[in-house]
Amino acid sequence: MHTVIGEDVSHAVALLRMGEIVALPTETVYGLAANALNEQAVAKIYEAKNRPSFNPLIIHLAPDTPLNKYAHPIPVAAYKLAEAFWPGPLSLLLPKLPIVPDLVTAGSPLVAIRKPAHLLMQQVLEKTDLPLAAPSANPSGYISPTQAEHVQRQLAGKISYVLDGGPSQVGLESTIVGFQEKVPVIYRHGGITEEAIRQVLGTNVNTILHSSTPSSPGMLTSHYAPKIPLYIGEIPILLSQFSGKRIGIISFQQLYAHPDIQQVDVLSRSGDLLEAASRLFPALHQMDQSQVEVILAEKVPDHGIGKAINDRLSRAQAFLK
Ligand code: TXA
Ligand code: MG
Repeated sequence: MHTVIGEDVSHAVALLRMGEIVALPTETVYGLAANALNEQAVAKIYEAKNRPSFNPLIIHLAPDTPLNKYAHPIPVAAYKLAEAFWPGPLSLLLPKLPIVPDLVTAGSPLVAIRKPAHLLMQQVLEKTDLPLAAPSANPSGYISPTQAEHVQRQLAGKISYVLDGGPSQVGLESTIVGFQEKVPVIYRHGGITEEAIRQVLGTNVNTILHSSTPSSPGMLTSHYAPKIPLYIGEIPILLSQFSGKRIGIISFQQLYAHPDIQQVDVLSRSGDLLEAASRLFPALHQMDQSQVEVILAEKVPDHGIGKAINDRLSRAQAFLK
């Protein structure tokens, strides 16, 4: 199958209606979408990504679609978050209604729902008039795509169409929020910060990350890993440890000079965490295409969206081969 990049919304809509999978742009990362109500179509997502069937999918809705079509009961706090952050990089984990196929939620009674902000994605959702199941459009375990070309390179031959909506503005996946005994819980850090969620709810928010059990939400540890080994630490110390290798650096603000450095990606010269977030995955993709032998990275300040950046960095390091 030839994988084409284009800007034809009607073509994407037609494919989705026929039960095909299509890569679509969102403000977080590109998604690999299918009609969430069609189990055969959803099965194609798992196959193309080589995704374990126990890892559930987020469903995406158009801005005007009522949440209670797919989830019930909905806690008041969920409505508050939806009001504050949708459309945008937030996914809410809610009790699913029977209309949502078990394949989408991998058998869980909860479904993750998001209303994305990207205008092309919204057009596709409105024109199909369907909920779209869409994980990030990468092979399972690899770095999420933030450009149409990333998708084309990673899923070449497995999908026929990538709808090009330009580079993803946020550049990191959505924040996933659920509720345990009515207490809001963050299962994945992402585009909406913990501080912003706390401010809207005016309550305490728990955080449960790094889940690797199939029945619980969130992320497997082995996510976002580039093919080239990545190490996190103090760059000057790492540089001395890896001297003699062809080195790639991903730093927050600072430029480092060293004879072994072949490539440097400074995430934000001015120290802007939002800018850094949008540049992390492109930097990892670029490093992976380069000739470097190791990637050395440093953490960013651990507040705001910095938490999501640091989370992705540690997962990129997690399962080095
Ligand atoms: O920003 C995003 O969320 C992107 C764009 C495309 O919307 N999507 C995305 O999907 O990151 P994915 O599949 O790569 O990550 C979704 C995460 C997975 O780790 C999955 O385990 C969790 O959400 N998840 C989805 N549905 C769930 C459910 N019913 N219960 C628990 N966790 C769920
Ligand atoms: Mg993913």
